[in-house]
Amino acid sequence: MQTIGRRGATALVVGSLWAVACGGGSDAKPDAKAKADRGAAKADPKSAAKDAPIADRKDAKRDADAKEDGDAADDAGAIAAAPAWAWTLPRGINVPPRVPEDNPMSADKVELGHRLFMDKRLSVDGTRSCYSCHQNELGSADGRAKALGPGNKDLPRNTPTIWNVGLSATLYWDGRSDSLEAQALAALKGGNMALGDAVEAKAAEIGALPEYAASFAKIFGLAKDAKVTGMHVVQALSAYERTLLCGDTAHDNDTADEAAKRGWALFAGPAGCITCHAGDNFSDGLYHRTGIGAGDPAASGIDLGRGKPTGKPEDDFLFRTPTLRNVARTAPYFHDGSVATLEEAVRIMASGGITTAGPVDANLLDRKLTPEQQADLVAFLKSLDCPGKLEVIGDQKVDGIGG
Ligand code: HEC
Ligand code: HEC
Repeated sequence: MQTIGRRGATALVVGSLWAVACGGGSDAKPDAKAKADRGAAKADPKSAAKDAPIADRKDAKRDADAKEDGDAADDAGAIAAAPAWAWTLPRGINVPPRVPEDNPMSADKVELGHRLFMDKRLSVDGTRSCYSCHQNELGSADGRAKALGPGNKDLPRNTPTIWNVGLSATLYWDGRSDSLEAQALAALKGGNMALGDAVEAKAAEIGALPEYAASFAKIFGLAKDAKVTGMHVVQALSAYERTLLCGDTAHDNDTADEAAKRGWALFAGPAGCITCHAGDNFSDGLYHRTGIGAGDPAASGIDLGRGKPTGKPEDDFLFRTPTLRNVARTAPYFHDGSVATLEEAVRIMASGGITTAGPVDANLLDRKLTPEQQADLVAFLKSLDCPGKLEVIGDQKVDGIGG
């Protein structure tokens, strides 16, 4: 059994629910979150560790069942082509993002992905970068009930924060993408960037620009006349996104105020929030029915949630538990942006969800909390504000989004 050390003190024992495979890459630190004093978990291209929701993450020990052969990666030069990428994990994040074997991390790739994330030319009409809807000032979301795509097209869902997306085994409110790469491709094709069938043409066009050509060629080992493809673009974007780790919050650093501490005790105890909002990222990665937006599945335009990608009626109106990191800054709330304030979102969650259209998840009960206790829960959620910022490149003003 292999353990991953962090800050020299905590031995991480990683066990069970969602697989985390650590990837290889270069020595360099992820740009956004590099913090010298944090111990790094060595990336390991061969190992597959697993992670589990846990009752009290502060005392948590987790089981590492990384394979022994992964040790070879610690041995510099054992894998000559892919020097180890060292993750610098912020406090509170104990397991690095899962990295697909065919998209190892490297400093150059992260830098390229960062530039692409900030480039409006990637959208169909040059009006949207990825950042357009995942902005710092808006919790790395967009402050809207539902997203606004190119051509001011209304999109069906609320934009989630971009922090810690590398920690989710599935992406989107309905979990329909099982990797960041698949998600980024969907974002390019679908309403976000609205490229449709033009993804490959756009990738070739962007990849041929003088400011990008050499980077793509070097990072992906492209032959002289080889075209940059959609896959290259999404791999670079995903490598960048994996570096967007949010920890080091007041909660993680134990600097939260008394109300927040009382709120944490409720959250992890009698309020039962942690049964679903579990682990470092406050999500079990599973799907639950909370009743938000639920109704007649046959109604036109209704959002079936998980039931849409799986096609199973029993999955109708299940949504993936969202992270609660940075949640105080990402109003409005829920997959449909139907709730304007954090106070109201907490009230709904603590009082058993919305039951007007049928029963909800058995763990969602009326916890009979006093207004003071609900306020403490809100104070706790505010102690999860992310200290970091995406480094903005270029003019990111967008009509209709933000101030
Ligand atoms: C027009 C606004 C908009 C733009 C532009 C946009 N996104 Fe998003 N993003 C959203 C919305 C809305 C969702 C949730 C959609 C859903 O669940 O069906 C989302 C979800 C995501 C998620 C999943 C988050 C999670 O917790 O599951 C990731 C990752 C992401 N976007 C990355 C990107 C990348 C990369 C780009 C650029 C290629 C991009 N976004 C461009 C609005 C946008
Ligand atoms: C049964 C699992 C479950 C339990 C228990 C639970 N939640 Fe949630 N929570 C969810 C799911 C699923 C969503 C997303 C629902 C949607 O948007 O349709 C959610 C959404 C939220 C949101 C909105 C997040 C956003 O980005 O829009 C907040 C805030 C929240 N929960 C807080 C809490 C609190 C506080 C508690 C305890 C009182 C709690 N939850 C208990 C599953 C749960």
